[in-house]
Amino acid sequence: MRVILMGPPGAGKGTQADLLINKLGILHISTGDMFRKALKEKTSLGLEAKKYMDAGELVPDNVTVGIVKERLAEPDCKKGFLLDGFPRTIPQADALENTIKELGAGLDKVINIAVDRDVLVQRLTGRRVCKECGATYHVMFNPPKAKDVCDDCGGGLYQRSDDTVETVNNRLLVYEEQTAPLIDYYRKKDLLLEVNGDQEVEQVTNDILRALGRVKA
Ligand code: AP5
Ligand code: MG
Ligand code: ZN
Repeated sequence: MRVILMGPPGAGKGTQADLLINKLGILHISTGDMFRKALKEKTSLGLEAKKYMDAGELVPDNVTVGIVKERLAEPDCKKGFLLDGFPRTIPQADALENTIKELGAGLDKVINIAVDRDVLVQRLTGRRVCKECGATYHVMFNPPKAKDVCDDCGGGLYQRSDDTVETVNNRLLVYEEQTAPLIDYYRKKDLLLEVNGDQEVEQVTNDILRALGRVKA
């Protein structure tokens, strides 16, 4: 199964992807995570991406398309994948269509997680992420058992540098201008499934699985 998980910053793409990949037996591919990993390893890709991420802008399409193309050509992607945070522009979506075609496959579905702006700002500014395993928490909505310590692995939690109020505002603006048009793009291709992301985490997961036909209505 090859699926895209779309939605504005803070919609819950990463949270849902972690839960869905186990149930669906496919890979989680997040371009944001790929850029953050490259930055941690201080590669030239990471340092280039940082300039854009810290400003809440998109990394240029040619760079992003290049890393996704490489990743999708790896053998483990044959079992299927869930894309999180890609595509984010119409040119990225066109490039993805060609890449998947070249691999002799097709895209199954595109899930759009919808959440109102006020909720997104609250979610992003209160998010905490584990330094070691990447697990995501929220100071109010999903707090760890011990403050700033990961329940899963005991690692320390940090706040993403792009989760400040100022950068969040720009990320939301960039989303509206450059990424939201993809909703219509995929609706026209008859691939779009819409899910209300402003519900309990488990309820959102269930709605996605139901939309994908993986649980009975
Ligand atoms: P990326 O890492 O993709 O960030 P994003 O799209 O802004 O989305 P987030 O990761 O912030 O949110 P999410 O939807 O995953 O929410 P989460 O599950 O964490 O991209 C970062 C940057 O990289 C971009 O700005 C850009 O610079 C660059 N980039 C990446 N991809 C690119 C591309 N394709 N092209 C160009 N540039 C690219 O949840 C958020 C919070 O809410 C958490 O605290 C969580 O615990 C909480 N939460 C989740 N679900 C619920 C719920 N149901 N109820 C209550 N709280 C919830
Ligand atoms: Mg994410
Ligand atoms: Zn952890």
